[in-house]
Amino acid sequence: MRTRIEAALDTTVARATGGAPPRLAEAIRYAVFPGGARVRPHLCLAVAAACGDDRPAVADAACTAIELLHCASLVHDDLPCFDDAAYRRGKASVHCVYGEALALLVGDALIVQAYEALAAAGHAAPERLPALLTILARAAGSPHGLVAGQAWESEPAPDLGTYHRAKTGALFVASTMAGAVAAGRDGVPWRRLGERLGEAYQVADDLLDAVADPGECGKPVLQDAVLSRPNAVTTLGLEGALAKLRALVADAVDGIPDVPGAEPLRQLVMMQAKRLVPKALQTAA
Ligand code: IPE
Ligand code: IPE
Ligand code: MG
Ligand code: MG
Repeated sequence: MRTRIEAALDTTVARATGGAPPRLAEAIRYAVFPGGARVRPHLCLAVAAACGDDRPAVADAACTAIELLHCASLVHDDLPCFDDAAYRRGKASVHCVYGEALALLVGDALIVQAYEALAAAGHAAPERLPALLTILARAAGSPHGLVAGQAWESEPAPDLGTYHRAKTGALFVASTMAGAVAAGRDGVPWRRLGERLGEAYQVADDLLDAVADPGECGKPVLQDAVLSRPNAVTTLGLEGALAKLRALVADAVDGIPDVPGAEPLRQLVMMQAKRLVPKALQTAA
């Protein structure tokens, strides 16, 4: 599956970089390759597969669009005006290498390219396109998507759940719903899986921030405390956050709709979820 995702990303990124100003083109590639875990596109394709994956080109475009939105969110998130993070995915962050102006433009270009990728593949199943575009736009924007998630950090006392659902959950919901829609199914029954996995993933990231060393996660740690971000460890404690993580994963698995390909998907989600617990806490998990 990784090869399929990288190939689809490569085709799409080539569309945004061919003929572009050379430093912008280089910075776009730097932001996308090599990737991180590619969790969201894997999830999207796994749901599409569970639903029959009858239009693979549409599923490819959906999972690519989601990963590009994610990469854009990371480039913007690391900027000095947000988290001011000097490295990401084990290397210097985009603005540290190419400067703030280009980092801003890289994020913008990736967001726009996400929609172009979807539009380009839409001819394979035009009737699925409006739903896919809506799913992606909701995940990216306001009031419930990535934009809102970052904006909650400018409020005095955001609710932890609302903040997590927007900054992280939204793209997981898009991954499961778009995977289903790309394969010709209704996306709504797949919302719960995305919501629970998204929340679980952010709780795991909060745990990682609290207990992991930078080598394990490839980005700065202890930043939630430094930046006074609302987070699951402060709110629930280490044990409470771990318990919440386990409960969310169990609920996610229970929420998988009853399609013919449901069982392999359940197994996959359970296997991947085990990896969410930071190494330092694995005996306690
Ligand atoms: C990081 O996401 C941002 C969060 C929502 C926690 P990932 O942990 O999926 O980042 P990459 O893509 O693997 O680097
Ligand atoms: C992640 O926010 C969600 C985004 C919209 C980028 P964080 O600031 O918690 O993510 P990391 O820890 O930098 O990956
Ligand atoms: Mg942040
Ligand atoms: Mg950050």
